[in-house]
Amino acid sequence: MKFFIDTANIDEIKEANSMGMVDGVTTNPSLIAKEGRPFEDIIKDICAEVDGPISAEVISTEAKAMIAEGQKLAAIHENIVVKIPMIPDGMKATRALASEGIPVNVTLVFSPLQALVAAKAGAAFVSPFVGRLDDLASEGMLLIEQMVTIFNNYGFDAEVLVASIRNPLHVLEAAMMGADVATIPFGVIKKMMSHPLTDKGLAAFLADHAKSQK
Ligand code: E4P
Repeated sequence: MKFFIDTANIDEIKEANSMGMVDGVTTNPSLIAKEGRPFEDIIKDICAEVDGPISAEVISTEAKAMIAEGQKLAAIHENIVVKIPMIPDGMKATRALASEGIPVNVTLVFSPLQALVAAKAGAAFVSPFVGRLDDLASEGMLLIEQMVTIFNNYGFDAEVLVASIRNPLHVLEAAMMGADVATIPFGVIKKMMSHPLTDKGLAAFLADHAKSQK
């Protein structure tokens, strides 16, 4: 399973990358806005740090403008994946960009039929937002199960990129279901590494070691 980090913060990306946890990066306009720096500077810094797919999102909503914006984003670096919203014009832009060899991540996916449509349009990645579904008392992980089944049934190349992850259980369930990628906030990556018995065991080993040195 590939781990992407879901952030535009370069310090978080560097820290997670140094632990081997970063196969790629996803950003969105909200994550970029948090950083208070120009969009292109942030994307260039991320591309310099991580050798893997880096998602950068268009802000246009009309196909022609999305295609032009996507081409501009793709020109920044060879690892750029253009993030396109799951709307009808977005599917036109996905088809056009994919046919030029520019990889697309279709975002804001909330139903299995939206996912099927995105895969048919030629998306390289399809991003279902599990946390936002859970927030509405709709089972986010059910969508992952449905997508994995549909993509496998028809041999779509599109990868299931689990997004809007809020806790380690989302990652565990995504891994059990065979999702290709999880894009994970830094805080959740840290939680995935910790266990109280690890802390307790380490403290005991260190205490015993100290005793044996006396
Ligand atoms: C990533 O591609 C998505 O934009 C992100 O995971 C959304 O997360 P949120 O629902 O926590 O904003």
